[in-house]
Amino acid sequence: MSNSGNRRTRSHKKKTQIKREKSERDRDDREKVARYLEKQATQDPFGRFWRGWIESRRHLDALLADLPKAKKSDWAPRIQALLRIPASLAAEVGVGISAGEPWNLNEEALLQWPAAAQIFRALEAKPEIARNLAIEATASAEAVAQSRIEGSTDDFPPAMIEEWEKDWGAAIAKKLAIELAKPPGVSLRVRMRADRDGIRRELEARKDALSTISPVGIRFEGYKAVMAVDSFEKGDFEIQDEGSQLLALAVLDPSRVIPMLLPTPGDPTPAFVGEFPKKGMPAQTVIDACAGAGGKTLAIADFMNGKGRVFAYDIFQSKMAALRRRIGKAQMTNAKAILLESGAETEALKDFFEKADAVLVDAPCSGWGVLRRNPDAKWKENYEELEKLPELQLRLLNLYSKLVRPGGRLVYSLCTFRKAESEAVVKAFQAENPGFHSLGGGYLGPHQTDGFFIQIWERKVDSK
Ligand SMILES: C[S@@+](CC[C@H](N)C(=O)[O-])C[C@H]1O[C@@H](n2cnc3c(N)ncnc32)[C@H](O)[C@@H]1O
Repeated sequence: MSNSGNRRTRSHKKKTQIKREKSERDRDDREKVARYLEKQATQDPFGRFWRGWIESRRHLDALLADLPKAKKSDWAPRIQALLRIPASLAAEVGVGISAGEPWNLNEEALLQWPAAAQIFRALEAKPEIARNLAIEATASAEAVAQSRIEGSTDDFPPAMIEEWEKDWGAAIAKKLAIELAKPPGVSLRVRMRADRDGIRRELEARKDALSTISPVGIRFEGYKAVMAVDSFEKGDFEIQDEGSQLLALAVLDPSRVIPMLLPTPGDPTPAFVGEFPKKGMPAQTVIDACAGAGGKTLAIADFMNGKGRVFAYDIFQSKMAALRRRIGKAQMTNAKAILLESGAETEALKDFFEKADAVLVDAPCSGWGVLRRNPDAKWKENYEELEKLPELQLRLLNLYSKLVRPGGRLVYSLCTFRKAESEAVVKAFQAENPGFHSLGGGYLGPHQTDGFFIQIWERKVDSK
């Protein structure tokens, strides 16, 4: 055989050998993972939960709700703490996590990530850390926030930080990291029929608990047990973020809210100026097109003090059922939940085209503005799915804008500050719909409130 023939044979043998070794290694790895999972499933309840959470697309809240009650109240704060700030917490509880972990781990490696179990156990040994971080904005949470002020963005996946920096620059990205790592406070929306200051007194809160952002809001920085008082039983207030309250108000009266929206996210929200009409806002016909479980539907209906009408749509039966229950409990006779079929919305709605005074499209989005409430989301972000969002958002805006009457308003809102979903979608909608002119828009939070983007248009009177 020629020299070159020998070389080819040797190289072929070598390749076959490398392939065989790799496939053996893969098989070993698979077996190792299977053994590990089996052990976790039988021996370690936290391991079982961890595995379930990583493998499932379900939200952490839903998984926690499946736990027995006592276990849930025991675990929830610890798991929240673990997910909210794994790296910074590591220093406090004495666990070593190398730079980049766990964000550089794939799903299988994450399942086996020993630091999670280690941190969980450390939190078990020092429950005050978990309690402090997850429930109260106390000294240790402040210390962690301080470490970020000094420049650490370790607790967010690098791809997320990169996008914040690309969209907003390094200084704002750092502000966002600081704000979104803090535990959220508790905010209340007081019903029109109730007395805000009276409820504040009933909750034994100081005067400065009255929100400066929402004219019907009360705000607690840390955890506050608000469900034990009579007025909660009577339904005189709802637990709701002040940003959501303002958004509901923007649908009915944009002139009060537009001046509070900022050109960039991450800064404190300016105070609400003026009085809220005691008898409520004038009656209007409003569509809440992506209502979900209807937090904003209920706020809009209450702001009109039982007058006008709010039609709430969604494509999920379970969400509409939950909203119907809430409407009944709150006795909001001016709100109605209507289930739509995805793809068949136009057919169902064409008789209502150009009938609404205002339409809210609170569109599905990346949810990065609410990461403090959902710290698990940053662990499971699917960047391919994110790319599809702007197309969906534009489709929903084009679809539901048809319901707006000439002279009526269209409100687009997101609980995120990603420019691809906010400003880029606004630009695309505007280019396709010259019959709508912008009344204004901008960002809210994430600071005291969750992070929102809100854009408001008016349909020109002579538009077709
Ligand atoms: C960001 S969530 C809305 C949150 C809600 N407004 C609230 O206050 O809790 C977006 C909602 O849009 C719904 N959705 C998705 N596609 C839809 C469609 N074609 N028509 C109506 N709603 C849709 C989702 O099911 C989801 O509940």
